[in-house]
Amino acid sequence: MVHWPKHVQIKEVGPRDGLQNEKKPVPTADKVNWINMLSESGVKEIEYSSFVHPKWVPQLSDAHEVGKKIKRNPDVRYSALVPNMKGLELALETGIDGASVFMSASETHNQKNINKSIAETYPVLGEVIKEAKKNDKHVTGYVSTVFDCPFEGKVTPEQVIRVCDKLFEYGVDDISLGDTIGTAVPSQVDQLLEAVLSRYPKEKIIMHFHDTRGMAIANITRSLPYGITRFDSSIGGLGGCPYAPGAAGNVATNDVLYLLHGLGIHTGIDEKKLQEAAFYIQQKLGKSLPSKSLAYAASQN
Ligand code: HMG
Ligand code: MG
Repeated sequence: MVHWPKHVQIKEVGPRDGLQNEKKPVPTADKVNWINMLSESGVKEIEYSSFVHPKWVPQLSDAHEVGKKIKRNPDVRYSALVPNMKGLELALETGIDGASVFMSASETHNQKNINKSIAETYPVLGEVIKEAKKNDKHVTGYVSTVFDCPFEGKVTPEQVIRVCDKLFEYGVDDISLGDTIGTAVPSQVDQLLEAVLSRYPKEKIIMHFHDTRGMAIANITRSLPYGITRFDSSIGGLGGCPYAPGAAGNVATNDVLYLLHGLGIHTGIDEKKLQEAAFYIQQKLGKSLPSKSLAYAASQN
């Protein structure tokens, strides 16, 4: 008999991970309306944008304006991606509750994504984490390519742990493990979680699955009996990593809710409100999003 957790916390990453890979620019005012809708859905954390170089991710070059204009719900943690001190300064000035630093377990993806080797990245993130903690911010460390790297192939749990050890040593509150290119199957989840959870408390581990090959829901289902109760997902399944060729969007929040609520797991998120927010952004992007439960809901309207 499987023991499912009673409660799971979802971080909505659509406004960041989702939009960063969309070709069609979304006007700032529409982003703000959309994030305000998400804020009223019952979700407890929203990654609202990214303070990276605007040349690298032009879709999110309005992070400052978005952060200034969104209506803050006191029950929601608003976080943003920050790659370095410049990004952190801008994010602090704009207003964040949480800072998310990021790097990869594999050398080549790290280099392509943030223009530095893993060794060169450590002191940069170390300084950002220290400064964010000094400012009383929650800090999440993303580790990308935890199963496979688009350039190097298989990544071992030892490579992942090496990076996690450093990030925890620098003071991150938790770590989000990214299946950046959506290659993992449940046996890989077993292998990684057995290694990771023998070292760190399960409360500090978040899983971040992209759904390139439709395996994300299976992988989430596999993570739950390990006591993992925190997942990142993107409304409608929007998104991908611009520096990981072929990477599709994150698992769709709508599909994750269908799974979790069906298993009797509480999330605090109102599926209907989330659907409305998904329909809103679909209309702004002028295309259907990949979520199956969203497509089903649309067919019933
Ligand atoms: P760089 O060019 O190596 O930076 O970029 P630099 O420190 O050498 O600075 C060069 C210039 O950029 C300078 O300007 C800086 O001021 C400026 P100049 O003096 O030449 O005029 N600069 C900045 N400007 C604005 N905001 C900043 C910033 N930093 C420097 N923050 C950098 C290094 C990391 C900035 C760059 O590589 C970058 O922005 N990369 C973005 C990568 C990215 O956003 N990738 C997608 C997100 S990660 C992801 O999706 C994975 C995840 O979802 C988990 C998963 O799925 O696995 C998290
Ligand atoms: Mg991602």
